[in-house]
Amino acid sequence: MNLPVGVGAKVIGVGAGVPAAVVTNADLEKLVDTSDEWITSRTGIQERRIVSENETTSGLAIEAAKDALAFAGVDPSILDLIIVATSTPDNLYPSTACMVQAAIGAPRAAAFDMEAACTGIIYALSVGQQFIATGTYKTVLVVGVDIHSRFLNWEDRNTCILFGDGAGAFILQASDGENEMLATYLRADGKGGHLLHIPNTGTSYPHAGTTPPKKADRFLQMNGRAIYEFAVHAVPEAVRAAAAKAGIRIEDIDYLVPHQANKRIINSAAERLGMRPEQVISNVDHFGNTSAASIPLAFWSALKRKQVTAPAILALVGFGGGLTWGAAIIRWTAKDTRISRE
Ligand code: ACO
Repeated sequence: MNLPVGVGAKVIGVGAGVPAAVVTNADLEKLVDTSDEWITSRTGIQERRIVSENETTSGLAIEAAKDALAFAGVDPSILDLIIVATSTPDNLYPSTACMVQAAIGAPRAAAFDMEAACTGIIYALSVGQQFIATGTYKTVLVVGVDIHSRFLNWEDRNTCILFGDGAGAFILQASDGENEMLATYLRADGKGGHLLHIPNTGTSYPHAGTTPPKKADRFLQMNGRAIYEFAVHAVPEAVRAAAAKAGIRIEDIDYLVPHQANKRIINSAAERLGMRPEQVISNVDHFGNTSAASIPLAFWSALKRKQVTAPAILALVGFGGGLTWGAAIIRWTAKDTRISRE
């Protein structure tokens, strides 16, 4: 079979799904030995959203998916593929993507989850784009979603202050005009896996006859200093590599949309790339690190406050557990169909 090679793709929608409950730094002062001043000055985070007992990863993903579909004005029945990037699914299976498929009503869509920690949304965009580029599919929904709060040790001030819960989504579609997903760049270094991990949560536990790990051994563990060092190098490297693949210069990038882990990492990366503060998209102050959700969620926030106007060249860039990192260069031209209909 001859497939049409090189079909262009564009991003036509973005959406978000976040829990209602806000947890402030002052709330965390009551749980661990920390202070609003320490958290704000070291991370830029002032508050984050945390799920209630009955909220789920699939629930947040469904909300983000519906929001992105409404933005794009796309009926779910035309979706060909749903990819959900998450490290914290409801269950090992069914996949979160299958749960989204059923809930939004996308009977034609194939559906699967993928896991690349906080870089998951960049990996998912790259995979989705390639299904379009080969001519296999026309319309693809990608969702990044994580509920890290269920895997945090709320007695560990080194980690519990950093994360929030949430979901973000993009809709990709085959382009009638020019290709607008200009390049993606993906990297991994499994040798650094131990620097950021949630151990004892898969088939490494339980083994017959072994002593169950203590609850605290099943929480997220992180070498913050090492991840910081990794991130401030990985982010500019990925943006430069993706820009080179796209055939553009760093000066051609209008906005940097980085993974929202820490304001200092974001600022340092932007400085290394020579980007001005107004070109940097960030909502880490209000959402913390939402892992696979953070890039679409940050972009969604920037659109809400009208920081970004189309057309614009975006550099999306992520890093995280694995270790993984990567970037996507996108020409953003989409408009919220709900606003244009008003
Ligand atoms: N409140 C008060 N003090 C604290 C807290 C806290 N919440 N956490 C740590 N401290 C203390 C430490 O114990 C240490 O005290 P000591 O000097 O007496 O030993 C002191 O503050 C300094 O600690 P450092 O680790 O040196 O602080 P640093 O400036 O490096 O900031 C941080 C720590 C915020 C974790 C930073 O290293 C960081 O952001 N790293 C990257 C984390 C990250 O991005 N993780 C996720 C990425 S991937 C993904 O999203 C899954």
